Parts: sequence; structure tokens; C-alpha cells
Amino acid sequence: EGPTDLTLRINGAARTLRAEPRVTLLDALREYMDLTGTKKGCDHGQCGACTVLVDGRRVNSCLTLAVMAQGKEITTIEGLAKGDDLHPMQEAFLKHDGFQCGYCTPGQIMSAVACVKEGHATSDAQCREWMSGNLCRCGAYPNIVAAVREVAG
Ligand code: FES
Repeated sequence: EGPTDLTLRINGAARTLRAEPRVTLLDALREYMDLTGTKKGCDHGQCGACTVLVDGRRVNSCLTLAVMAQGKEITTIEGLAKGDDLHPMQEAFLKHDGFQCGYCTPGQIMSAVACVKEGHATSDAQCREWMSGNLCRCGAYPNIVAAVREVAG
């Protein structure tokens, strides 16, 4: 098994790369496409730093093979802002100080976007449950929940 040509649709544009079939979506983004906004924490599905949206649903990109994401719409943190206008969730994280070191923030925000979109932010408890797969070593959880709840309205 050698490298193969992959075409991925990322943030609305098709990108092609040549990679081994075992390359994860996370490594494809970071190492092959310079989309380093998506972070690698544990690399085995425990921390959520690598969260992206695939067809609108959140996934841990470290557990997803790039080859399996072909034909799907991938959204990363780089795809949320429209020009100079931040996504409302990005604005809310800024307003509520939903981070400290910031390493987990891209993954938190991608999870948070899915949380609101899928209707899992109707209470603080429900929000915390949905967001529990995204670890924050700085303990910014109360501020993260406040940001998500504000966007949920
Ligand atoms: Fe994917 Fe931690 S790097 S869950």
C-alpha cells in the first residue's frame, strides 16, 4: 500500500493531497494542508482538541481516516469566520473569556457550534454534558458554558 491521491472538501474548497491510506484527518489537515488551527492533544480520542465538523457533525479528527472523509464537507476552525467577521461562537468565547492558554479552544468552539446547532444547549447541565469530551486543562469550563449558552439564546 503506497500513497494515494485524496480529495477533501474543506471549508468550502476542494483540496487534493497524496498520502498513505492510514493518514488521519487530523494529520492530513495539519501536516499536508497547513491547517494548524485544529490541534493534536492526545491523538487517541480522549481530549477533543482535534474536533472538526464532518457534514455538520462533530468528530475527533484523530480517530477519522482522511480517506473516509472524502466526499464529505469538512469544517475546521479556519472556516468559521467570514472575512474579518468572527463566527458568533468565536465572539462569545472572547466576550466570556472561554479560554486561558487557548490550546483546546479550536476544538471547544467546533464542539460548541455543533452543540447549539443540534439543540444540546438548552440548559447549563445539558451543555456541560455535550461539551464533556473537550478537556480544558486551564479549567475555563464555566466561561465556556456561558459562551455556548449565550449563543444558544
Ligand atoms: Fe483527538 Fe485528543 S487529539 S481526541
